[in-house]
Amino acid sequence: MKHFNIIFKPDDKQISIHAGATLIEAAGQAGIILNTVCGGKGTCEKCVVNLEPDSQQVLACQYHIQSDLTVTIPAGSRFFEQKILAEGIDTKARIQPDIYEKYLQPDSAAPIFGVAIDIGTTTIVARLIDMTDGRCLTTQAELNPQSRYGDDVISRITYAETDAKLAELHDTIINCVNELIARLCKQACADAKCIYEIAVVGNTTMNHIFLKLPVKQLGQAPYKAFSLDARDTPANELALQINPAGNIHTAPNIAGFVGADTTAVALAVDIDSAEEMTLAVDIGTNGELVLGTGDKLYAASCAAGPALEGARITCGSRAAEGAIEAVIAGDGNIVLDVIGDCPARSICGSGLIDAVAVLLELGIVDASGRFVRASSLADKVPVAIASRIRTELGEPVFILTDSGAAETVFLTQKDIRQFQLAKGAIRVGIKLLQKKLGLEDSDIKRIFLAGAFGNYIRAESALRIGLLPDVPAERIHFVGNAAAAGAQMILLSRHCRAKAKELARKIEYVEIAHEKDFESVFAESMSF
Ligand code: FES
Repeated sequence: MKHFNIIFKPDDKQISIHAGATLIEAAGQAGIILNTVCGGKGTCEKCVVNLEPDSQQVLACQYHIQSDLTVTIPAGSRFFEQKILAEGIDTKARIQPDIYEKYLQPDSAAPIFGVAIDIGTTTIVARLIDMTDGRCLTTQAELNPQSRYGDDVISRITYAETDAKLAELHDTIINCVNELIARLCKQACADAKCIYEIAVVGNTTMNHIFLKLPVKQLGQAPYKAFSLDARDTPANELALQINPAGNIHTAPNIAGFVGADTTAVALAVDIDSAEEMTLAVDIGTNGELVLGTGDKLYAASCAAGPALEGARITCGSRAAEGAIEAVIAGDGNIVLDVIGDCPARSICGSGLIDAVAVLLELGIVDASGRFVRASSLADKVPVAIASRIRTELGEPVFILTDSGAAETVFLTQKDIRQFQLAKGAIRVGIKLLQKKLGLEDSDIKRIFLAGAFGNYIRAESALRIGLLPDVPAERIHFVGNAAAAGAQMILLSRHCRAKAKELARKIEYVEIAHEKDFESVFAESMSF
Protein backbone atom coordinates (compact mmCIF):
# COMPACT_ATOMS: atom_id res chain seq x y z
CA MET A 1 0.00 0.00 0.00
CA LYS A 2 1.16 3.50 -0.80
CA HIS A 3 2.57 5.51 2.10
CA PHE A 4 2.92 9.25 2.55
CA ASN A 5 5.17 11.43 4.67
CA ILE A 6 3.46 13.75 7.11
CA ILE A 7 5.33 16.52 8.92
CA PHE A 8 3.69 18.01 11.98
CA LYS A 9 4.48 21.62 12.88
CA PRO A 10 5.49 23.20 15.19
CA ASP A 11 6.79 19.91 16.68
CA ASP A 12 8.70 19.02 13.49
CA LYS A 13 7.67 15.42 13.92
CA GLN A 14 7.67 13.31 10.79
CA ILE A 15 5.96 10.00 10.18
CA SER A 16 5.07 7.78 7.26
CA ILE A 17 1.51 6.50 7.06
CA HIS A 18 -0.62 4.52 4.60
CA ALA A 19 -2.92 6.24 2.12
CA GLY A 20 -6.43 6.80 3.43
CA ALA A 21 -5.45 7.09 7.11
CA THR A 22 -6.94 10.09 8.89
CA LEU A 23 -4.85 12.94 10.21
CA ILE A 24 -5.97 11.95 13.73
CA GLU A 25 -4.33 8.57 13.21
CA ALA A 26 -1.22 10.18 11.76
CA ALA A 27 -0.98 12.61 14.69
CA GLY A 28 -1.43 9.70 17.12
CA GLN A 29 1.40 7.84 15.39
CA ALA A 30 3.57 10.92 15.84
CA GLY A 31 2.71 10.90 19.55
CA ILE A 32 0.55 14.01 19.28
CA ILE A 33 -2.90 13.78 20.79
CA LEU A 34 -5.56 16.05 19.33
CA ASN A 35 -8.86 17.06 20.88
CA THR A 36 -11.50 14.53 19.88
CA VAL A 37 -14.46 15.60 21.91
CA CYS A 38 -17.00 13.92 19.59
CA GLY A 39 -14.86 10.81 19.16
CA GLY A 40 -14.05 11.62 15.54
CA LYS A 41 -17.61 12.02 14.26
CA GLY A 42 -16.82 15.39 12.72
CA THR A 43 -19.33 17.30 14.83
CA CYS A 44 -17.32 19.02 17.58
CA GLU A 45 -14.81 20.81 15.32
CA LYS A 46 -12.22 20.69 18.10
CA CYS A 47 -9.66 18.82 15.97
CA VAL A 48 -9.09 21.55 13.38
CA VAL A 49 -5.59 21.60 11.83
CA ASN A 50 -4.02 23.68 9.04
CA LEU A 51 -2.63 22.20 5.84
CA GLU A 52 0.41 24.08 4.62
CA PRO A 53 1.44 26.07 2.68
CA ASP A 54 -1.98 27.76 2.49
CA SER A 55 -3.13 27.16 6.07
CA GLN A 56 -6.22 25.43 4.73
CA GLN A 57 -8.31 24.43 7.75
CA VAL A 58 -9.53 20.82 7.89
CA LEU A 59 -10.95 18.54 10.56
CA ALA A 60 -8.21 16.03 11.34
CA CYS A 61 -10.74 13.29 12.06
CA GLN A 62 -12.38 13.67 8.65
CA TYR A 63 -9.35 14.26 6.46
CA HIS A 64 -8.04 11.14 4.69
CA ILE A 65 -4.43 11.35 3.59
CA GLN A 66 -3.75 11.07 -0.14
CA SER A 67 -0.42 12.92 -0.44
CA ASP A 68 2.62 14.05 1.50
CA LEU A 69 1.60 16.84 3.86
CA THR A 70 2.88 19.46 6.22
CA VAL A 71 0.34 20.05 8.95
CA THR A 72 0.34 22.80 11.55
CA ILE A 73 -1.51 22.03 14.75
CA PRO A 74 -3.04 25.09 16.43
CA ALA A 75 -2.62 25.13 20.20
CA GLY A 76 -6.38 25.01 20.69
CA SER A 77 -6.69 21.66 18.90
CA ARG A 78 -4.03 20.03 20.96
CA PHE A 79 -4.91 17.88 23.89
CA PHE A 80 -1.82 18.74 25.88
CA GLU A 81 -0.17 20.10 28.93
CA GLN A 82 -3.38 19.86 30.78
CA LYS A 83 -3.00 21.00 34.31
CA ILE A 84 -2.81 17.56 35.82
CA LEU A 85 -3.58 17.18 39.45
CA ALA A 86 -1.14 14.71 40.89
CA GLU A 87 -1.42 15.78 44.51
CA GLY A 88 -4.03 14.55 46.90
CA ILE A 89 -4.79 14.14 50.55
CA ASP A 90 -2.08 12.82 52.79
CA THR A 91 -2.84 9.27 53.75
CA LYS A 92 0.50 8.28 55.26
CA ALA A 93 -0.43 8.65 58.86
CA ARG A 94 -3.45 6.38 58.57
CA ILE A 95 -1.86 3.33 56.92
CA GLN A 96 0.03 0.44 58.37
CA PRO A 97 2.01 -0.95 55.43
CA ASP A 98 1.98 -4.73 55.48
CA ILE A 99 1.50 -6.01 51.92
CA TYR A 100 5.30 -5.86 51.39
CA GLU A 101 5.82 -8.60 53.98
CA LYS A 102 5.00 -11.28 51.43
CA TYR A 103 7.97 -10.17 49.33
CA LEU A 104 10.50 -10.01 52.18
CA GLN A 105 13.36 -12.40 51.71
CA PRO A 106 15.81 -13.26 54.43
CA ASP A 107 19.25 -11.74 53.82
CA SER A 108 18.01 -9.38 51.17
CA ALA A 109 18.47 -5.69 51.59
CA ALA A 110 16.90 -4.86 48.20
CA PRO A 111 14.18 -2.24 48.40
CA ILE A 112 10.54 -3.16 47.81
CA PHE A 113 8.55 -0.69 45.74
CA GLY A 114 4.94 -0.48 44.69
CA VAL A 115 2.99 1.74 42.30
CA ALA A 116 -0.45 3.24 42.94
CA ILE A 117 -2.29 4.14 39.73
CA ASP A 118 -5.46 6.10 39.08
CA ILE A 119 -6.63 5.56 35.51
CA GLY A 120 -8.99 8.40 34.72
CA THR A 121 -10.88 8.76 31.46
CA THR A 122 -8.72 11.82 30.79
CA THR A 123 -5.66 11.51 33.00
CA ILE A 124 -3.51 8.73 34.43
CA VAL A 125 -1.62 9.39 37.65
CA ALA A 126 1.03 6.97 38.97
CA ARG A 127 2.91 7.16 42.27
CA LEU A 128 6.03 5.20 43.18
CA ILE A 129 5.76 4.09 46.78
CA ASP A 130 8.30 2.68 49.19
CA MET A 131 6.29 -0.29 50.39
CA THR A 132 8.04 -0.59 53.74
CA ASP A 133 7.15 2.84 55.05
CA GLY A 134 4.46 4.09 52.67
CA ARG A 135 6.47 7.06 51.44
CA CYS A 136 5.57 8.42 48.03
CA LEU A 137 8.93 8.73 46.26
CA THR A 138 7.70 10.41 43.12
CA THR A 139 4.60 10.97 41.00
CA GLN A 140 4.11 10.99 37.27
CA ALA A 141 1.01 11.84 35.28
CA GLU A 142 0.05 11.52 31.67
CA LEU A 143 -3.00 12.20 29.57
CA ASN A 144 -4.88 8.99 28.87
CA PRO A 145 -3.79 8.13 25.30
CA GLN A 146 -7.20 6.54 24.71
CA SER A 147 -8.48 10.11 24.41
CA ARG A 148 -7.78 9.89 20.71
CA TYR A 149 -10.71 7.44 20.56
CA GLY A 150 -13.09 9.94 22.17
CA ASP A 151 -13.34 12.01 25.29
CA ASP A 152 -15.85 10.06 27.32
CA VAL A 153 -16.36 6.46 28.36
CA ILE A 154 -19.22 5.95 25.92
CA SER A 155 -16.96 6.68 22.92
CA ARG A 156 -14.43 4.16 24.26
CA ILE A 157 -17.14 1.54 24.82
CA THR A 158 -18.43 2.15 21.30
CA TYR A 159 -14.93 1.86 19.87
CA ALA A 160 -14.24 -1.42 21.68
CA GLU A 161 -17.05 -3.21 19.84
CA THR A 162 -14.80 -6.03 18.62
CA ASP A 163 -12.21 -8.07 20.51
CA ALA A 164 -9.49 -6.62 18.29
CA LYS A 165 -10.47 -3.05 19.08
CA LEU A 166 -10.80 -3.81 22.80
CA ALA A 167 -7.28 -5.28 22.63
CA GLU A 168 -6.10 -2.11 20.90
CA LEU A 169 -7.48 0.09 23.70
CA HIS A 170 -6.05 -2.31 26.29
CA ASP A 171 -2.59 -2.19 24.71
CA THR A 172 -2.75 1.60 24.60
CA ILE A 173 -3.29 1.79 28.34
CA ILE A 174 -0.70 -0.90 29.17
CA ASN A 175 1.93 0.90 27.08
CA CYS A 176 1.13 4.14 28.83
CA VAL A 177 1.41 2.53 32.28
CA ASN A 178 4.76 0.97 31.32
CA GLU A 179 5.93 4.35 30.15
CA LEU A 180 4.86 5.93 33.45
CA ILE A 181 6.64 3.17 35.41
CA ALA A 182 9.83 3.77 33.43
CA ARG A 183 9.60 7.49 34.16
CA LEU A 184 8.95 6.92 37.87
CA CYS A 185 11.98 4.62 38.10
CA LYS A 186 14.19 7.04 36.22
CA GLN A 187 13.16 9.91 38.42
CA ALA A 188 13.69 8.00 41.67
CA CYS A 189 16.78 6.08 40.42
CA ALA A 190 14.86 2.88 41.19
CA ASP A 191 15.02 -0.51 39.50
CA ALA A 192 11.69 -1.62 38.03
CA LYS A 193 12.58 -5.17 39.12
CA CYS A 194 12.13 -3.95 42.69
CA ILE A 195 8.47 -3.10 42.00
CA TYR A 196 6.45 -6.05 43.29
CA GLU A 197 2.95 -4.69 43.64
CA ILE A 198 0.69 -2.34 41.70
CA ALA A 199 -2.73 -1.14 42.84
CA VAL A 200 -5.04 0.23 40.15
CA VAL A 201 -8.25 2.23 40.47
CA GLY A 202 -10.37 3.73 37.70
CA ASN A 203 -13.94 3.96 36.58
CA THR A 204 -15.57 0.67 35.61
CA THR A 205 -14.87 1.15 31.89
CA MET A 206 -11.20 1.97 32.48
CA ASN A 207 -10.96 -0.98 34.88
CA HIS A 208 -12.43 -3.34 32.28
CA ILE A 209 -10.24 -2.09 29.45
CA PHE A 210 -7.15 -2.37 31.65
CA LEU A 211 -8.03 -6.01 32.35
CA LYS A 212 -9.28 -6.61 28.79
CA LEU A 213 -12.73 -7.55 30.07
CA PRO A 214 -15.77 -7.08 27.79
CA VAL A 215 -17.20 -3.55 27.89
CA LYS A 216 -20.03 -3.77 25.37
CA GLN A 217 -22.67 -4.42 28.07
CA LEU A 218 -21.61 -1.21 29.85
CA GLY A 219 -23.03 0.74 26.93
CA GLN A 220 -26.48 -0.87 26.96
CA ALA A 221 -29.25 -0.84 29.58
CA PRO A 222 -29.07 -2.03 32.32
CA TYR A 223 -25.36 -1.04 32.03
CA LYS A 224 -24.01 -4.01 33.94
CA ALA A 225 -20.34 -4.44 34.72
CA PHE A 226 -18.77 -7.69 33.53
CA SER A 227 -17.16 -7.88 36.95
CA LEU A 228 -17.32 -5.76 40.07
CA ASP A 229 -14.73 -7.76 41.96
CA ALA A 230 -11.26 -6.84 43.09
CA ARG A 231 -8.72 -8.94 41.19
CA ASP A 232 -5.12 -10.01 41.52
CA THR A 233 -3.37 -10.65 38.22
CA PRO A 234 0.25 -11.65 37.69
CA ALA A 235 2.30 -8.79 36.21
CA ASN A 236 3.38 -11.02 33.29
CA GLU A 237 -0.17 -11.65 32.24
CA LEU A 238 -0.72 -7.92 31.75
CA ALA A 239 2.73 -7.37 30.23
CA LEU A 240 3.61 -4.83 32.88
CA GLN A 241 7.32 -4.29 33.17
CA ILE A 242 7.99 -4.80 36.86
CA ASN A 243 9.34 -7.78 38.82
CA PRO A 244 8.03 -10.92 37.06
CA ALA A 245 6.77 -12.20 40.43
CA GLY A 246 4.81 -8.97 40.88
CA ASN A 247 1.09 -8.71 41.44
CA ILE A 248 -1.42 -6.28 39.97
CA HIS A 249 -4.34 -5.56 42.28
CA THR A 250 -7.37 -3.91 40.73
CA ALA A 251 -9.76 -2.48 43.31
CA PRO A 252 -13.48 -3.38 43.32
CA ASN A 253 -16.08 -1.45 41.32
CA ILE A 254 -19.42 -0.41 42.79
CA ALA A 255 -21.62 -0.59 39.66
CA GLY A 256 -21.49 -0.16 35.89
CA PHE A 257 -21.06 3.59 36.10
CA VAL A 258 -19.53 3.89 39.56
CA GLY A 259 -16.11 2.35 39.57
CA ALA A 260 -13.13 1.55 41.73
CA ASP A 261 -12.06 5.19 41.63
CA THR A 262 -15.16 6.04 43.66
CA THR A 263 -14.39 3.15 46.03
CA ALA A 264 -10.92 4.69 46.43
CA VAL A 265 -12.31 8.19 47.06
CA ALA A 266 -14.70 6.77 49.68
CA LEU A 267 -11.79 4.97 51.32
CA ALA A 268 -9.48 8.00 51.23
CA VAL A 269 -12.00 10.35 52.84
CA ASP A 270 -12.87 7.60 55.31
CA ILE A 271 -16.56 8.04 54.64
CA ASP A 272 -17.22 4.71 56.30
CA SER A 273 -16.28 6.16 59.68
CA ALA A 274 -18.31 9.33 59.17
CA GLU A 275 -20.70 10.01 62.00
CA GLU A 276 -21.82 13.28 60.45
CA MET A 277 -23.64 13.36 57.13
CA THR A 278 -20.92 13.48 54.47
CA LEU A 279 -21.00 14.02 50.72
CA ALA A 280 -18.07 13.13 48.45
CA VAL A 281 -18.25 14.55 44.93
CA ASP A 282 -15.75 13.55 42.25
CA ILE A 283 -16.30 16.01 39.43
CA GLY A 284 -15.45 15.15 35.86
CA THR A 285 -17.15 14.18 32.63
CA ASN A 286 -18.92 11.70 34.84
CA GLY A 287 -19.68 13.18 38.23
CA GLU A 288 -19.62 10.53 40.92
CA LEU A 289 -21.24 10.98 44.29
CA VAL A 290 -21.28 9.17 47.61
CA LEU A 291 -23.57 10.41 50.36
CA GLY A 292 -24.21 9.12 53.85
CA THR A 293 -22.59 8.12 57.09
CA GLY A 294 -20.89 4.93 58.19
CA ASP A 295 -24.36 3.43 58.71
CA LYS A 296 -25.73 3.88 55.20
CA LEU A 297 -24.07 5.03 52.03
CA TYR A 298 -25.55 5.72 48.60
CA ALA A 299 -23.68 6.37 45.35
CA ALA A 300 -24.76 7.77 42.02
CA SER A 301 -23.21 8.70 38.75
CA CYS A 302 -24.23 11.86 36.92
CA ALA A 303 -23.72 12.24 33.22
CA ALA A 304 -22.53 15.82 33.49
CA GLY A 305 -20.96 15.65 30.05
CA PRO A 306 -17.81 17.46 29.17
CA ALA A 307 -19.08 21.07 29.50
CA LEU A 308 -17.57 21.47 32.97
CA GLU A 309 -14.28 20.41 31.42
CA GLY A 310 -14.60 23.13 28.82
CA ALA A 311 -15.94 21.08 25.92
CA ARG A 312 -19.14 22.09 24.08
CA ILE A 313 -18.43 25.65 25.22
CA THR A 314 -17.61 28.02 22.35
CA CYS A 315 -14.29 29.20 23.81
CA GLY A 316 -13.97 26.28 26.21
CA SER A 317 -10.95 24.07 26.78
CA ARG A 318 -9.53 21.81 29.42
CA ALA A 319 -7.38 23.28 32.16
CA ALA A 320 -4.44 23.82 29.82
CA GLU A 321 -2.04 26.70 29.30
CA GLY A 322 -3.85 29.87 28.26
CA ALA A 323 -7.15 28.83 29.83
CA ILE A 324 -8.93 31.25 32.15
CA GLU A 325 -9.19 29.35 35.43
CA ALA A 326 -10.65 32.06 37.64
CA VAL A 327 -12.83 35.13 37.11
CA ILE A 328 -13.21 37.62 39.92
CA ALA A 329 -15.32 40.77 40.01
CA GLY A 330 -13.92 43.79 41.81
CA ASP A 331 -13.07 47.48 41.43
CA GLY A 332 -15.68 48.01 38.76
CA ASN A 333 -14.34 45.37 36.40
CA ILE A 334 -13.45 41.70 36.21
CA VAL A 335 -10.02 40.18 36.75
CA LEU A 336 -8.93 36.98 35.05
CA ASP A 337 -6.53 34.31 36.24
CA VAL A 338 -4.95 32.48 33.33
CA ILE A 339 -3.00 29.21 33.49
CA GLY A 340 0.64 29.67 32.49
CA ASP A 341 2.50 32.80 31.64
CA CYS A 342 0.55 33.70 28.52
CA PRO A 343 -2.50 35.60 27.29
CA ALA A 344 -5.96 34.05 27.68
CA ARG A 345 -7.14 32.01 24.73
CA SER A 346 -9.90 29.86 26.27
CA ILE A 347 -11.83 29.17 29.44
CA CYS A 348 -11.75 25.95 31.47
CA GLY A 349 -14.32 24.55 33.90
CA SER A 350 -13.30 26.38 37.05
CA GLY A 351 -13.18 29.68 35.12
CA LEU A 352 -16.58 28.92 33.73
CA ILE A 353 -18.04 28.33 37.18
CA ASP A 354 -16.52 31.62 38.37
CA ALA A 355 -17.69 33.51 35.28
CA VAL A 356 -21.28 32.31 35.61
CA ALA A 357 -21.23 33.08 39.35
CA VAL A 358 -20.06 36.63 38.55
CA LEU A 359 -22.73 37.10 35.84
CA LEU A 360 -25.41 35.94 38.29
CA GLU A 361 -24.11 38.11 41.07
CA LEU A 362 -24.15 41.19 38.81
CA GLY A 363 -27.62 40.36 37.51
CA ILE A 364 -26.37 40.00 33.92
CA VAL A 365 -27.77 36.46 33.81
CA ASP A 366 -31.00 35.69 35.66
CA ALA A 367 -31.99 32.64 37.71
CA SER A 368 -33.38 30.92 34.63
CA GLY A 369 -30.00 31.23 32.93
CA ARG A 370 -31.07 33.94 30.46
CA PHE A 371 -28.99 37.00 29.67
CA VAL A 372 -31.14 39.95 30.77
CA ARG A 373 -31.65 42.89 28.39
CA ALA A 374 -28.66 45.22 28.36
CA SER A 375 -31.03 48.20 28.62
CA SER A 376 -32.37 46.99 31.96
CA LEU A 377 -28.85 46.90 33.37
CA ALA A 378 -28.19 50.63 32.91
CA ASP A 379 -26.76 52.11 36.13
CA LYS A 380 -26.87 48.70 37.77
CA VAL A 381 -23.48 47.39 36.68
CA PRO A 382 -20.17 49.27 36.38
CA VAL A 383 -19.54 50.78 32.93
CA ALA A 384 -16.43 48.64 32.27
CA ILE A 385 -18.47 45.52 32.84
CA ALA A 386 -21.53 46.73 30.91
CA SER A 387 -19.28 47.36 27.90
CA ARG A 388 -18.45 43.67 27.84
CA ILE A 389 -22.04 42.77 26.97
CA ARG A 390 -22.40 42.68 23.20
CA THR A 391 -24.69 41.22 20.62
CA GLU A 392 -23.35 38.76 18.07
CA LEU A 393 -25.64 37.36 15.38
CA GLY A 394 -28.61 38.62 17.36
CA GLU A 395 -27.52 36.78 20.53
CA PRO A 396 -26.10 38.37 23.68
CA VAL A 397 -22.50 37.48 24.54
CA PHE A 398 -20.27 38.44 27.45
CA ILE A 399 -16.66 39.24 26.54
CA LEU A 400 -14.20 38.08 29.18
CA THR A 401 -10.91 39.25 27.66
CA ASP A 402 -9.98 42.91 27.52
CA SER A 403 -10.32 44.80 24.26
CA GLY A 404 -7.12 44.51 22.26
CA ALA A 405 -6.42 40.97 23.52
CA ALA A 406 -4.88 38.65 20.90
CA GLU A 407 -7.84 36.29 21.19
CA THR A 408 -11.34 37.12 22.34
CA VAL A 409 -12.76 34.75 24.93
CA PHE A 410 -16.50 35.10 25.46
CA LEU A 411 -19.57 33.31 26.72
CA THR A 412 -22.76 32.96 24.70
CA GLN A 413 -26.32 32.16 25.71
CA LYS A 414 -25.80 28.66 24.33
CA ASP A 415 -22.72 28.22 26.52
CA ILE A 416 -24.73 29.15 29.60
CA ARG A 417 -27.35 26.55 28.59
CA GLN A 418 -24.70 23.83 28.18
CA PHE A 419 -23.25 24.79 31.53
CA GLN A 420 -26.68 24.63 33.15
CA LEU A 421 -27.21 21.11 31.84
CA ALA A 422 -23.92 19.95 33.35
CA LYS A 423 -24.39 21.57 36.73
CA GLY A 424 -28.03 20.44 36.75
CA ALA A 425 -26.91 16.84 36.14
CA ILE A 426 -24.64 16.89 39.18
CA ARG A 427 -27.07 18.74 41.39
CA VAL A 428 -29.99 16.48 40.53
CA GLY A 429 -27.84 13.50 41.54
CA ILE A 430 -27.05 15.11 44.88
CA LYS A 431 -30.68 16.10 45.46
CA LEU A 432 -32.04 12.65 44.70
CA LEU A 433 -29.51 11.03 47.01
CA GLN A 434 -30.51 13.57 49.68
CA LYS A 435 -34.11 12.59 49.10
CA LYS A 436 -33.27 8.92 49.57
CA LEU A 437 -31.87 9.79 52.98
CA GLY A 438 -34.51 12.43 53.79
CA LEU A 439 -31.94 15.21 54.08
CA GLU A 440 -32.14 18.98 53.82
CA ASP A 441 -29.05 20.81 52.51
CA SER A 442 -28.22 21.97 56.01
CA ASP A 443 -28.07 18.36 57.25
CA ILE A 444 -24.93 17.80 55.19
CA LYS A 445 -22.06 18.60 57.51
CA ARG A 446 -19.08 17.96 55.24
CA ILE A 447 -18.58 18.03 51.48
CA PHE A 448 -15.41 16.58 49.97
CA LEU A 449 -14.75 17.81 46.45
CA ALA A 450 -12.37 15.50 44.64
CA GLY A 451 -10.90 15.25 41.18
CA ALA A 452 -8.47 17.10 38.99
CA PHE A 453 -11.18 19.62 38.44
CA GLY A 454 -12.40 19.93 42.02
CA ASN A 455 -9.19 21.36 43.36
CA TYR A 456 -9.45 24.52 41.34
CA ILE A 457 -13.08 25.36 42.02
CA ARG A 458 -13.73 28.23 44.39
CA ALA A 459 -16.20 27.16 47.05
CA GLU A 460 -18.15 30.42 46.92
CA SER A 461 -18.67 30.19 43.17
CA ALA A 462 -19.71 26.53 43.35
CA LEU A 463 -22.28 27.51 45.97
CA ARG A 464 -23.45 30.57 44.03
CA ILE A 465 -24.27 28.61 40.91
CA GLY A 466 -26.03 25.93 42.93
CA LEU A 467 -23.67 23.10 42.00
CA LEU A 468 -23.52 22.02 45.64
CA PRO A 469 -26.07 21.96 48.46
CA ASP A 470 -26.48 25.28 50.18
CA VAL A 471 -24.11 24.89 53.14
CA PRO A 472 -21.60 27.28 54.72
CA ALA A 473 -18.43 27.44 52.57
CA GLU A 474 -16.30 26.14 55.44
CA ARG A 475 -18.02 22.77 55.19
CA ILE A 476 -16.48 22.28 51.73
CA HIS A 477 -13.10 20.56 51.66
CA PHE A 478 -10.94 20.11 48.59
CA VAL A 479 -9.25 16.75 48.65
CA GLY A 480 -7.49 16.81 45.30
CA ASN A 481 -6.83 13.49 43.71
CA ALA A 482 -8.49 11.39 46.40
CA ALA A 483 -8.77 8.43 44.01
CA ALA A 484 -4.96 8.21 43.75
CA ALA A 485 -4.68 8.60 47.53
CA GLY A 486 -7.12 5.70 47.95
CA ALA A 487 -5.12 3.62 45.46
CA GLN A 488 -2.03 4.24 47.59
CA MET A 489 -3.86 3.00 50.68
CA ILE A 490 -5.03 -0.11 48.82
CA LEU A 491 -1.47 -0.70 47.60
CA LEU A 492 0.06 -0.67 51.05
CA SER A 493 -2.33 -2.24 53.47
CA ARG A 494 -4.28 -5.47 53.75
CA HIS A 495 -6.69 -3.72 56.05
CA CYS A 496 -7.41 -1.01 53.44
CA ARG A 497 -7.81 -3.66 50.75
CA ALA A 498 -10.39 -5.44 52.86
CA LYS A 499 -12.08 -2.15 53.65
CA ALA A 500 -12.28 -1.24 49.95
CA LYS A 501 -14.07 -4.54 49.27
CA GLU A 502 -16.42 -3.92 52.13
CA LEU A 503 -17.12 -0.37 50.93
CA ALA A 504 -17.80 -1.44 47.34
CA ARG A 505 -20.34 -3.97 48.64
CA LYS A 506 -21.84 -1.66 51.19
CA ILE A 507 -22.32 1.44 49.04
CA GLU A 508 -25.72 1.17 47.44
CA TYR A 509 -25.89 2.32 43.84
CA VAL A 510 -28.84 4.49 42.90
CA GLU A 511 -29.80 4.83 39.24
CA ILE A 512 -30.94 8.42 39.51
CA ALA A 513 -32.55 8.53 36.07
CA HIS A 514 -34.99 5.86 37.33
CA GLU A 515 -35.99 7.79 40.44
CA LYS A 516 -39.60 8.84 40.15
CA ASP A 517 -39.03 12.60 40.56
CA PHE A 518 -36.04 12.71 38.26
CA GLU A 519 -37.55 14.96 35.56
CA SER A 520 -38.95 17.59 37.90
CA VAL A 521 -35.90 17.66 40.19
CA PHE A 522 -33.63 17.92 37.14
CA ALA A 523 -35.61 20.90 35.82
CA GLU A 524 -35.41 22.54 39.25
CA SER A 525 -31.66 21.78 39.49
CA MET A 526 -30.96 23.60 36.25
CA SER A 527 -31.95 26.98 37.59
CA PHE A 528 -29.52 29.16 39.48
S1 FES B 1 -14.79 17.07 14.76
FE1 FES B 1 -12.99 15.93 14.75
S2 FES B 1 -13.02 14.98 16.63
FE2 FES B 1 -14.81 16.11 16.66
